[in-house]
Amino acid sequence: MHLDKTQPSSIEAYLHQMGWMPADEHLLSAEKAGEGNMNYTLRVRTTKRSFILKQARPYVEKYPSIPAPVERAGMESAFFAAAAGWENVGKMLPRLWHFDEKEHVQVIEDLDEGADFTAYYAREIALPETEIAVLIRFLAALHQSSRGHLPTRGFENRAMRELNHLHIFDFPFQPGNGMDLDGIQPGLQALAQATVYQNPALRDKTLALGRRYLADGDTLLHGDFFPGSWLRTDRGIFVIDPEFCFRGEAAFDLGVCLAHLCFCGMEWETALALLETYYGDFDRQACEDFAAVEILRRFYGVAQLPLSFTVEEKEVLTKKAMACLLA
Ligand SMILES: Nc1ncnc2c1ncn2[C@@H]1O[C@H](COP(=O)(O)OP(=O)(O)OP(=O)(O)O)[C@@H](O)[C@H]1O
Ligand SMILES: [Mg+2]
Repeated sequence: MHLDKTQPSSIEAYLHQMGWMPADEHLLSAEKAGEGNMNYTLRVRTTKRSFILKQARPYVEKYPSIPAPVERAGMESAFFAAAAGWENVGKMLPRLWHFDEKEHVQVIEDLDEGADFTAYYAREIALPETEIAVLIRFLAALHQSSRGHLPTRGFENRAMRELNHLHIFDFPFQPGNGMDLDGIQPGLQALAQATVYQNPALRDKTLALGRRYLADGDTLLHGDFFPGSWLRTDRGIFVIDPEFCFRGEAAFDLGVCLAHLCFCGMEWETALALLETYYGDFDRQACEDFAAVEILRRFYGVAQLPLSFTVEEKEVLTKKAMACLLA
């Protein structure tokens, strides 16, 4: 079953055949649910309700030439299933209604057309600190609920982590990796040359951190805790898209979050202070190191974001991140 919004009758037949929709319920429309790169994500409206239909294919939806492990759908659905009942966690997640393991399709509760937080990258409006505190407390509850309670196997998400490892800790720091940085922003290539590509010790450090990312921990992480995974709805803030979840260490989720607060215009020290709303232990140095790597890989790696930084601003943050990593 290859989901295709231009073939509504085959989607309807699939939903009936799976027993996910009774015979007297019919499909009214199937539209793209929102912005996303990895998966094929539709909002389906029927004669009775709406829901999200999300299919993982063996490639990145936006770049079909890039392979991507289909197990991500099973990982995401396992995350939703495990965390749904956790206090202060489940209420901020959409419900998983169904999962088709064979076709890697999830049926997820529709949170309606809320906006994610990526608009804050424009740095025109300040991030509301109370909402960020809510998100950080979500992380604390997720980490605390899972710590020590995960079964000994599961949530390794190995293939996705290998993919992420390459794009976070390795590729962006390889001089001569073929990235057309000036195509992204004129002047970026020279900046990379003068900073990240200049210093072999930097890649040693990022690869060492990468080994930490690949090591299995005792805490369930969201794995991709950035503004694109935060949805503001009429019912409050929700967290979506845990396809990169894994058992690791809390500092990774917090570090990624820290980096993106900076991308949204928050000062590093202010963002660090906000992380103190996290209740529970985490390795503060590792958190800052993961944040530093996240900053650099978003500037110089493949997974670009709609950031509003000039090259001069990128230089300031690059030097800050490198100083942190090389300290
Ligand atoms: N449960 C939901 N309720 C409402 N909207 C949703 C829901 N899940 C996803 N969406 C919308 O669909 C978009 C894409 O979803 P999602 O981020 O899960 O897909 P993805 O392909 O994994 O994206 P990415 O490339 O960022 O990883 C979201 O940004 C959001 O706008
Ligand atoms: Mg995703």
